[in-house]
Amino acid sequence: METIKWSSGVVITVDQTMLPSKLVYLRLKTPKEIAKAIKRLSIRGAPLLGAAAALALAQAAYRSKAKTVNYLFRELTRTAAIIKTTRPTAVNLFNSIDTILKEVRDYSGDARSFRTFIIKRCLAMVQKDAEVNAELSRRGTKLISYRDTLLTHCNAGELATVRYGTALGVIMNAHRQGKKIKVINTETRPLLQGARLTTFELRRKKIPTTLITDNMVGYVMQKGMINKVILGADRILTSGHVINKVGTYIIAVLAKKHRIPFYVAAPTSTIDIEGSVRNITIEERNSEEVLEFQGIRIAAKGVSVLNPAFDITPPHLVTRIITEKGIIAPTPKEIRSVLK
Ligand code: MRU
Repeated sequence: METIKWSSGVVITVDQTMLPSKLVYLRLKTPKEIAKAIKRLSIRGAPLLGAAAALALAQAAYRSKAKTVNYLFRELTRTAAIIKTTRPTAVNLFNSIDTILKEVRDYSGDARSFRTFIIKRCLAMVQKDAEVNAELSRRGTKLISYRDTLLTHCNAGELATVRYGTALGVIMNAHRQGKKIKVINTETRPLLQGARLTTFELRRKKIPTTLITDNMVGYVMQKGMINKVILGADRILTSGHVINKVGTYIIAVLAKKHRIPFYVAAPTSTIDIEGSVRNITIEERNSEEVLEFQGIRIAAKGVSVLNPAFDITPPHLVTRIITEKGIIAPTPKEIRSVLK
């Protein structure tokens, strides 16, 4: 399944808010439509956000009537600014935009060839996401043993990437190799990416999975029901801190307590070279997501709500990070080594 693709200026992508009941494809014609789809989580997952950002820039070039290279570059930076305001935490979105802008900035040629150059560069970025995920899935598989039961959180599958997935990519590759693995996956309150998306993907590939609510993680670990944790990331700092869907930190603390390996699978495009724990923004989402369940109010009127979408797991709780360039310890030295 390709989660996102380009077709003559139109971005075709799965509407993730409709899953698992309906597999609906959106046809997004402008960068503003892409921005809206990101904000309402029709497009979500860190690597996919990077790809969608690249495709928004490709659309800006595709639709441009600019007669000069300078004017086209200004249009590109305006689109970049719109996309950068959609969601603040997944660094892939920012890395993707900044890499493309940097690469096309010094173009010398006419506006027409610049347009083609930008589009090609953006589409190459999308293609690369599929390739690096295939590679990290292949590398990560050696950490998975025959008959392992793996715990995963949120959705780090094909739906969160252009293709293959990250944590689920590793799981799927191990399954393809006949390792007879099982999965336990959390529902992932409040937006249920685990229940809606991860179970959808695992069922499609016929990988046995058992759904639990987020507060059952301690129970399954205490009962010895899982051997390993594997999940994705939205941002990895060079200090080794992992920012991922809220609830990841609780799982990491419990995994340490129960001596269960805790693996993070993410492409190097998820690494934030400059950020530190003090200056990253954790997205705070609408209180309705917590106050309501599928449109039905579940809490007393007037109650205040906290709804951070992500949390931060410190490096001492992370066993290894699986990237397309290698499996590394969460140390500054090893993280920087895969960025070369
Ligand atoms: O809010 P979401 O659904 O975009 O959050 C996604 C996650 O936290 C994923 O675990 C993460 O992006 C890893 S994707 C391979």
